[in-house]
Amino acid sequence: MKEININFDRSELNLKEILSYSDKVKNIHDKMEKFETEGSSFLGWKDLPNNINNKELDRMEAIAKKLHKDGVETLVVIGIGGSYLGVRAGIDFVLGELPGDEQKMEIIFVGESLSSTALVQKLRYVENKKFAINVISKSGTTLEPAIAFRLFKKMLEDKVGVNNAKDYIFATTDASKGVLLDLAMQKGYERFIIPDDVGGRFSVLTPVGLFPFACVGLNIKKMVAGAKLANDAYSSNNLGTNPAYQYAVARYLLHSQRKYPVEMLVSYENAHKYFLEWWKQLFAESEGKNGKALLPHSALFTTDLHSLGQIIQEGSKVLFETVITVKKPKYDIKIIELAQDEDLDKLNYLAGKTVHEINNIAFEATLDAHSLVGRVPNIHIQIEDYSEETFGSLVMFFERAVAISGYLLEINPFNQPGVEVYKSNMFKTLKKPM
Ligand code: PA5
Repeated sequence: MKEININFDRSELNLKEILSYSDKVKNIHDKMEKFETEGSSFLGWKDLPNNINNKELDRMEAIAKKLHKDGVETLVVIGIGGSYLGVRAGIDFVLGELPGDEQKMEIIFVGESLSSTALVQKLRYVENKKFAINVISKSGTTLEPAIAFRLFKKMLEDKVGVNNAKDYIFATTDASKGVLLDLAMQKGYERFIIPDDVGGRFSVLTPVGLFPFACVGLNIKKMVAGAKLANDAYSSNNLGTNPAYQYAVARYLLHSQRKYPVEMLVSYENAHKYFLEWWKQLFAESEGKNGKALLPHSALFTTDLHSLGQIIQEGSKVLFETVITVKKPKYDIKIIELAQDEDLDKLNYLAGKTVHEINNIAFEATLDAHSLVGRVPNIHIQIEDYSEETFGSLVMFFERAVAISGYLLEINPFNQPGVEVYKSNMFKTLKKPM
């Protein structure tokens, strides 16, 4: 299994304090396993890696292959929230910021906002490309993706004809209800199912993520295998041996006892930009209820050390950091040595070191600066690499953690009633027929 190492040495907590929650965590875990906790009809994510059927993975891979063979250049992925962030996170996590030829198909994301400018620009962008559409919506009624789908569908139909268009439209939605399901059935689009018991923000390891991943060329079988091993490792009710649950307790203690209102998830890899966004949604929507929860915030270092660094170091003491570093980067490069008279940038002192080594030194230096000088508690999570398996593991790690963390707060981690408030206001003003 791809290891995920967690270290609390700089967290201002000691392991004994964390482990004093062993009975409480065991109790929550055992109830959760027996489906006795609030929201237990949405616990399907726990068993996803075991339940995903190989035939379904083969089907996704076969369709992706056909799209490649047909010369489809771009996949337009339409979705928002849990039907968007995990997809984007997984692709960048494995391929990096600028993947080049390794990426088998370009992806553009739409329906993730109501910005008319962004929408028109993306419509123009694909106008002269050979594109396919994957529309993703569990409820099938979300306005942002529905508007985008209407427009992109029309563009595709105008380009290739209504009959041909249906071979290039894929709908990922609920098995039995929703406008998108009805539309897909009527039009004869190929469908992928989001299981009933898996909420949006927990759905990245369903076809929501897996089909686009297959299209860009990720190895979805390896990803599921990584998630399965992690799920086995992080489903122990023994807090002493379960790092995902230890993380949940540590953040709970820093919040409820040390009174920090903000957790900042930090990564030193550009490729994690959208993973941080996925994590924010996971924790914000799961925990932000009944006037409770840490505000999940994020930063990319060293980039943000040149903006947020100052306030983290010396500003008000509102946050603790959880920092992700990667043992083995996807690529690395050495600093070259120049002849003495060419060492005009005075970097010869670094010659022979790799950029990843220097990134690690920046991490160590920042850890000391923030935790020892700035008194900002730090939790350190080290992951192995950029692989699909590691992505699958880390998803399971945080999903397990958020469940326990939410139940420690005594809220239901699996609903999102607050998200509905803006929607119903908007629909009222738009006079949506009931
Ligand atoms: O986590 C969630 O449930 C939400 O963020 C949803 O994913 C988001 O609102 C999109 O919903 P849907 O997939 O139904 O269009």
